[in-house]
Amino acid sequence: MNTKLSVNINKFATLRNARGGNNPDIIQIAKDCERFGAEGITVHPRPDERHIRYADVFALKPILTTEFNIEGNPTPEFIKLVLDAKPAQVTLVPDAPSALTSDNGWDTIANASFLTEILAEFRKNNIRTSIFINPDKLMIENAKKVGTDRIELYTGSYAHDYPQNPQTAISIFRESAIFAHEIGLGINAGHDLSLDNLAFFKQNIPHLAEVSIGHALVCDALYLGLQNTISLYKSKLNLV
Ligand code: PXP
Repeated sequence: MNTKLSVNINKFATLRNARGGNNPDIIQIAKDCERFGAEGITVHPRPDERHIRYADVFALKPILTTEFNIEGNPTPEFIKLVLDAKPAQVTLVPDAPSALTSDNGWDTIANASFLTEILAEFRKNNIRTSIFINPDKLMIENAKKVGTDRIELYTGSYAHDYPQNPQTAISIFRESAIFAHEIGLGINAGHDLSLDNLAFFKQNIPHLAEVSIGHALVCDALYLGLQNTISLYKSKLNLV
């Protein structure tokens, strides 16, 4: 299966915001990511707009030619933003406003009625839905029940454990992906994926539709350049 690379451009916005001007220009960055081979652009607007701003979302929508993925915690403001912007995909993430970054998947049992209601609203508006999930069978089984189209496997533990023992790190993700596919869910993945650990992940995870990558890709681009970096990430996805 072809796995799409969606570039998370939040870190570019963080850099821009550090000086208050428009350098780097997020619109140009997104266009260049697409020109260099990205098959999607991801943004994660947070309530304090410390990275991507709500205005960026509306500026990006008309210029993107690949899949636009908006991820975030479904506060009323976020839900309105997504319904107004109508991206190809929304990814719901249970991150607290003050969280440095997303660090956990949904409890799809405790939040079942909430998720069911908002996922239905997005789907009614023809927005594909995905929810951020730990590699846990019970959570995945209930992700199906709440009506999401896809899950995004939270790969933080894989990235953390990979250097010590790749096989141990991957096994729960492989089992989770096989199970998710069996029950009819699409599979995305993201968090801490890098040039070091991406190829092994791709080789061992069947039915992987999309990875969204931000932090490591932007760090690599400082040394290797954005065009070269995106090519390298794509080559890791195309080894099999
Ligand atoms: N997926 C989700 C849901 C995220 O919140 C993030 C970080 O914003 C990513 C993927 C990308 O993670 P990273 O920046 O570590 O590549």
